[in-house]
Amino acid sequence: PLVLHVLGARPNFVKAAPVVRALGELGVRQGIIHTGQHYDALMSDVFFADLGLPEPVANLGVGSGTHAKQTAALLVGLEEVVQEQEPDLVVVYGDVNSTLAAILVCAKLGVKTAHVEAGLRSFDRGMPEEVNRVVTDALADVLFATSPEALSYLASEGVPASKVHLVGNPMIDSLYAALPSLDPAPVVERLGLPERYAVATLHRPANVDTVEAAKELVDAVLDVSRQIPLVVPVHPRGKARLAAAGLDGPSVKVVDPLGYVDFLSLVRGAALVITDSGGVQEETTVLGVPCLTVRPNTERPITITHGTNRLVTPALLPAAAEKALADGASTPAGELPVLWDGQAGPRVAKVISAWLKGDNLAP
Ligand code: UD1
Ligand code: UDP
Repeated sequence: PLVLHVLGARPNFVKAAPVVRALGELGVRQGIIHTGQHYDALMSDVFFADLGLPEPVANLGVGSGTHAKQTAALLVGLEEVVQEQEPDLVVVYGDVNSTLAAILVCAKLGVKTAHVEAGLRSFDRGMPEEVNRVVTDALADVLFATSPEALSYLASEGVPASKVHLVGNPMIDSLYAALPSLDPAPVVERLGLPERYAVATLHRPANVDTVEAAKELVDAVLDVSRQIPLVVPVHPRGKARLAAAGLDGPSVKVVDPLGYVDFLSLVRGAALVITDSGGVQEETTVLGVPCLTVRPNTERPITITHGTNRLVTPALLPAAAEKALADGASTPAGELPVLWDGQAGPRVAKVISAWLKGDNLAP
């Protein structure tokens, strides 16, 4: 039997690595299809290297475009490669357009699918990712959830409990695997940062796609930079608009996206993280670094109840930063979320390999 993993964007690589490794250890035949949604070396190649992911068996090179154009190119490319490779199972990750396209293609071709990171909900259909999550979970044959609230969301959408496995968080498996090599000192020195600094990442369309939103956010970030020097590894999506809005200054260092190990090293040594990323909310939860998420909602509420995350508006960001910095390095509020223990990949692999051998998939 053959398992194919469809990956396209930066967070997909981080989530897939532990699953690929664990399936490999069980001797399962597998391959990666890279859709090419992310293609810059710093958005893709560096993750394959840092995470030890095997070379893809195919790269569809779909690139960027509007949602319709990108999704259409993904559908056409994926249909061809799935028909050619004849996998027994296709595994998709997270909530990006590559995830959505793969699940649609497989549903129509009658190919079985598994979704890793099922059941996250922001309940905000204005987020493109929320649309992708809802459709992906409606069509997947097996759903792997990272946290318990996903189980009730999926149940309320009519997904049978027999399809859903609570396995923990593979993104956190990757974090634990990298932990021994996460040393802030070299990257702090290379980027010319002081000992005490904050890190910001901003790429949500609602924050960076309009001049007005970008300006409001940049003004708030500049305000924070008067309290603490900031480094901003800037996602290509917002690069031009954030620069045009004035993201620059004596205490703001804008740099290219960082590789996985460099980025998490920087986060590990930071006094504060400001973000709108999904994954970074989870990683700061585990690293115990205060995190301010500039969004009206989160599909990862467990990072607020069990971690260091707080939701803020741009207007409230400077005061929230002042408080977070004064409170010092916060430790997680309670115990880490259940099963965020570095063993999610092996749990996923166990279910998949049992299923490939003909066992029932029900938990
Ligand atoms: C995508 C995901 C988002 C995820 C993010 C992770 C969707 C709908 N969105 O957003 O959920 O949080 O990835 O990083 O799938 N670009 C480059 N080089 C690249 C890739 C992109 O320059 O290698 C630029 C292009 O101008 C492109 C823009 O970034 O138009 C957006 O890329 P796209 O993949 O469409 O969406 P992201 O914003 O990256
Ligand atoms: N990340 C990275 N370099 C960066 C910014 C983020 O390696 O410059 C990592 C981050 O640690 C996490 C993943 O990329 O593992 C999250 O990706 P992103 O924020 O782009 O996507 P989201 O999680 O919002 O979908």
